[in-house]
Order: sequence, then C-alpha cells, then structure tokens
Amino acid sequence: MKRIGILTAGGDTPALNATIHGAVVRANQLRIEIFGLMKGFNSLFNPVVPHVHLNPLYQEIPELDPTKGGTLIGSSRDYVDPDKKDEIDLIASRLARLGIDGLICIGGDGTLNGLQPLTERLPVVLAPKTIDNDLGLNYPSEPDEWVRVNDSTIRAGYRYKQTESSHAVFDLSQIVNYVTPGYATAVYVSATGVDRIRTTAESHRRIAIIEVMGRHSGYIALGTAYGQPDIILVPEHPLDLEHLVERVKYLYDLQKNVVIACGEGIVDDQGRELGAETKSTDPAGNIILSGAAESLRLKLIQAIGDRYFQLYRRGETAREAIFTRKVGHTQRGGRPILFDRFYAAQLGAQAVNLLADGRNNSVSILQYNAEKGFHVQGYDANRFRDRWGLIHARRMHPGLYDPELMRPSRTGIEYLLPIFTDAIGDDDAEHMRRTLFAAGNLGHPYHSINTDVNKRIKYLAAETT
Ligand code: F6P
Repeated sequence: MKRIGILTAGGDTPALNATIHGAVVRANQLRIEIFGLMKGFNSLFNPVVPHVHLNPLYQEIPELDPTKGGTLIGSSRDYVDPDKKDEIDLIASRLARLGIDGLICIGGDGTLNGLQPLTERLPVVLAPKTIDNDLGLNYPSEPDEWVRVNDSTIRAGYRYKQTESSHAVFDLSQIVNYVTPGYATAVYVSATGVDRIRTTAESHRRIAIIEVMGRHSGYIALGTAYGQPDIILVPEHPLDLEHLVERVKYLYDLQKNVVIACGEGIVDDQGRELGAETKSTDPAGNIILSGAAESLRLKLIQAIGDRYFQLYRRGETAREAIFTRKVGHTQRGGRPILFDRFYAAQLGAQAVNLLADGRNNSVSILQYNAEKGFHVQGYDANRFRDRWGLIHARRMHPGLYDPELMRPSRTGIEYLLPIFTDAIGDDDAEHMRRTLFAAGNLGHPYHSINTDVNKRIKYLAAETT
C-alpha cells in the first residue's frame, strides 16, 4: 500500500481531526502517503476530486491539529448510490488515477452503509465517529433480530423493525464498539449545560427541559446524568406522561424547581416521535428532529395547568414556569476532551493497520473489558449487516435505563463509568484557562482553518470524454 485516501462523512464531531491525525502518524511510520478528500464523498462526485496531501515527505501538515474540533478536510452527507453503477465506475477510475489504493472513511452507520458499493472496487475501511454513539452492536447477534414489516405509508412498502424477543443476555462485555469518538465530548458539553441550567431554575422556581441530540438513541441523554438532572427521558422507552407529571409535581413540591434532560428522539406511547411533529429530512434522508423539548413542554403545560403554579405563587401561568433549551450544535463542536482525542487517534491508526494488513470492508472498533480496559480491534463490516445487507444505527440497550426512576440503571452507571472517570485531561482545563479570555481574542479576527487548507487543495486533471 503506497497511498491512502481519507474522508470524513456525515455530521461533524469534535474528534475527527484526532482520528485523521492518528491515521497520518501511523501512515508516516509505514511510509504510506495520505490524501485527504475534501467534503466527504462529495469529492468523489467531482471530476477533479479536490484533495490535500496530508503528509508530504511523511510529515503531517501543520494545519492537522488533533485538539481542534471539526474536520480540516470538510464533511457532507452525500453518499454513493449502490444502484448507480456508472457513477461507481467513475469514482473507482478517479481514485485509481489519483493513485489511491485504499480508502479510509471516517463516519457512522450512514457512512458504513454508504461505502459498501466501493468495497468491490478497492479496499475500504471505516474509522468510527458519531456523537450519537450509535455505531456498533449491543451484542454480536443483534443484526439477526431485524425484520421487515409491511407499511403502505412508505414508498418501499415495508420498514425495518427490531424484534423484541431477543435471546441474548445483555452483558456490557459483549458490546461491539463500546463507544465512538465524539460521544464523550458531547456528553461533557450537555452535562455542563444541565448543570448550568439548574441554578437559574432554582433561583426562579422554574421547570427546565433541556433537549440533547442523539437521533433515535438515548446515549447522550443518559450521559447527562453527570449534570444531575432530576429526570432523564430517552427514545428507547416511550414517554409515560402520567408517571412523568406525578414525578415533576413531587419534585416541584419538594425543591421548587425541576430539571429534565430529554433526547431529541423521545417517543409517545404510540411510538410517535415528539420532535418530528413537523416532519422534514436532511439530504441523507434522516428525519430532522426539531422540537422534542417544546412538544414535551406543551404536554406538561396542559397536564399541570396554570392553577397549580398560581397556588404555589410561582407566577401566573404554566407557560411562564416551564421553559426549554436545546444544547444544539455546541455539543458537537469545539475542542475534543482527552478521552475522545486519545481513542480517536488510536482508531485512526488502526484503520491504517487494517488496510496495510490487506483487510477490506472492515471497521476499526473500540472495545472494553475489565481485564484489558479500552483497546482497538478490527471487525468485519459484514457482521454489522442484517439479512438484507442493511446496517442499522445501534439503539441504546433499554437495560441501561431505569424507566421507573427515569435515570441510568445500575448497568447504565456501569456502562458510563469507564468512559468518563478520567475523560478530561489536565490540559483540557489548562486550555480553557489560557485561551478563552486571551487578550488577543478581542482584537484579532478569527482565523479559519479553511483559509489555510484551501491553499493546499490540489485537483485531478479533468476526465476526457
Ligand atoms: O448524527 C449526528 C447529529 O448531530 C444528530 O445527533 C442530530 O440529530 C443531527 O446530527 C443533526 O444534524 P444537522 O447537523 O444536519 O442539523
């Protein structure tokens, strides 16, 4: 292997540059060149394939900073369509003309599905990333549990459903890809947000609902437990409104404020997503969940009513007392914390190892067990696929959450501890101390990494037709 291409696809995460850095450092050791392909798969649809040589003379370029969030080579939600054979032929020939003999895609489940058609043309491996922590399996046999059920409201006429009658005993040591880079930083930001909302809710005797990302998985919401919200709601357990209202009133009686953390994908007892009441989709076809907290707020306003707050002399209306905030894209941006940086780099290096070892359609994964701690491995992507070949996003195992207490279960706590116990490094705290209020920030404009990387972009000579 002489030259590898690398791209970042899907929503960005804080640890992408760290993964690229890990891959480049390993490639330098193996004397392999690495070309960064700009804006994910989008670069491959462009006849001139914009790219950046990330390690000229086997030295990484200075713009590649593993402590910086985002991705210096850009990302997009464009994917290769497996039915468009002509397009795949063109992509394969472009990569061949660039001299690329192996490809690393950094992404989540969408990227792993998206790269499948390319694996028949050249060796391709995945290095995982996603703040949602939904790339992986709760146990190795999980893909076999997916079935197709008829659904006339969808063009295909069916949808996929995971059967509930699992024969597998849930055991943390069986998890495939225990945690993905990006998750720890997203939890850090979200838990900090929860912690900060508390004091204003306390001071003004209010009920705060904080919405965190995660699509259909509740891992980020689960992790906000570190910020000590009173109630956590996750998509894997349908909302029990009566139970929630009872608990909110109990807590409000006791402490005159309540903090609720909810995942953006929470569902009602009919399985309808609260945040998708006005439905729209992103370019990759994912439903955009835009208002779980707001919809929950309206339900609470209706269920609790103004009179309750008037009796307590806490303002005139339930509308005044109950407010929402989204943590939003701040949970996916900025400097990655130590845990993410460290393991993202190892996963990037492992992806290079997989290609160098002659593997194709393989995923570099992060495993955990009590004896070995965290360690990287290679896992055959085919083992993520259901019987129709589709790779599904992992849902947080329901056993990690206690629906009665609306908090992490004992197993949930056991799951979180190894990730977060030493997740923040001294340098993370020192970085904040030194940089946020640096005097230069006031006088100088922000210098975007894109400005420097643009100067390095090269293009393939256009195809002759
Ligand atoms: O998949 C990552 C993620 O951040 C989800 O948690 C969230 O639902 C989605 O992307 C947001 O996408 P966008 O950046 O396109 O708004």
